[in-house]
Amino acid sequence: MKNGFAAAALAALTVAFAHTAAQEPPQPPAGPGAGRQGRGGRGIGVFPAQQRPPADPAVIDRGKTIYGINCTPCHGADARGGQLGGPNLLRSQLVLSDQGGELILPIVRGSRAVKGMPPLNLSDDDVKAVAEFIHSLTAAGRTQGAPPPSDAPEPDILVGDATAGQAYFAAKCGACHSAAGDLQGIATKAGSPKALQNLWVSGGGGRGRGFGAPNEAAVATVSVIQPSGEKVEGRLLRIDDFVVTLVEADGSVRSFRRDGDVPAVDVHDPLDAHRTLLTVLTDKDMHDVTAYLVTLK
Ligand code: HEC
Ligand code: HEC
Repeated sequence: MKNGFAAAALAALTVAFAHTAAQEPPQPPAGPGAGRQGRGGRGIGVFPAQQRPPADPAVIDRGKTIYGINCTPCHGADARGGQLGGPNLLRSQLVLSDQGGELILPIVRGSRAVKGMPPLNLSDDDVKAVAEFIHSLTAAGRTQGAPPPSDAPEPDILVGDATAGQAYFAAKCGACHSAAGDLQGIATKAGSPKALQNLWVSGGGGRGRGFGAPNEAAVATVSVIQPSGEKVEGRLLRIDDFVVTLVEADGSVRSFRRDGDVPAVDVHDPLDAHRTLLTVLTDKDMHDVTAYLVTLK
């Protein structure tokens, strides 16, 4: 598995996963030795994640950095889920079944795009490093899904260059935000530099998740145009390949079955810009912008 993925093995694993995923069993509070049935005929008694040999620390470290930039806003710094609605990866069957990134790679390439995980522009090697990092978290977990123990102090994230951050802001953010306008006092509002960084990278993810009232300016809307020509619009509740569900202005919830391009569906998500950002942001940009935004007290 070191040099590229064996296509056949990948296909087999994907099929195996698709089969089990259909039932999506509730995660049992299994402890080591709980005797869960392993997949692929291998009788796995304890979590595979805890049996795998640890990867090279340098690879895990690299994976951690890449994860911090690309995955944290949605999946959380500790992989237990983040502001933009990515699921807990420590509880993910798929992550547990993944050996060296072969199951995670297609997802990073966009196989779950309709479900809210955009394709990210990372090399195969980077994805493998991220996979090793995630496995290092699950391996450190005492029980499945628990946060990994850590005595490490929070890393200081204020290592960027505020002047460079200001220039980046003017170029990439100025079309929608301004320091004297909507982002005035954003550093105070966010609290800590780390919270500020999560906030600006994710855009706040204000779809009624988390605390506080949903942020109206961040709500995704959708219009559905049926073959009859009838157009129905509202706040997007959920969308996948088969169904789109929305709430109309009067509060009624409507679902439409989707069959390819019928009915026509047009999603408008104000936070698209933030998701796109994630695919191009470098580590340096991120630190620079945070260093700049911290000055907006
Ligand atoms: C813009 C938000 C976003 C970003 C960025 C993102 N994800 Fe996701 N991810 C999601 C969402 C939403 C899902 C759930 C999709 C679904 O329901 O199938 C998901 C699902 C996954 C899953 C499948 C979990 C399971 O059990 O089904 C994996 C693995 C995963 N993401 C890994 C990553 C990795 C690794 C990165 C960074 C390289 C990343 N994601 C970046 C939003 C995101
Ligand atoms: C195409 C428009 C667009 C671009 C470009 C954009 N954002 Fe946003 N941003 C939004 C929207 C929409 C929201 C959610 C609504 C809101 O809070 O204003 C948001 C939210 C935020 C928030 C949270 C505001 C709050 O009060 O909670 C921060 C901080 C932020 N963006 C920073 C940035 C930074 C920094 C950049 C550039 C690196 C950027 N944004 C680029 C549209 C954009």
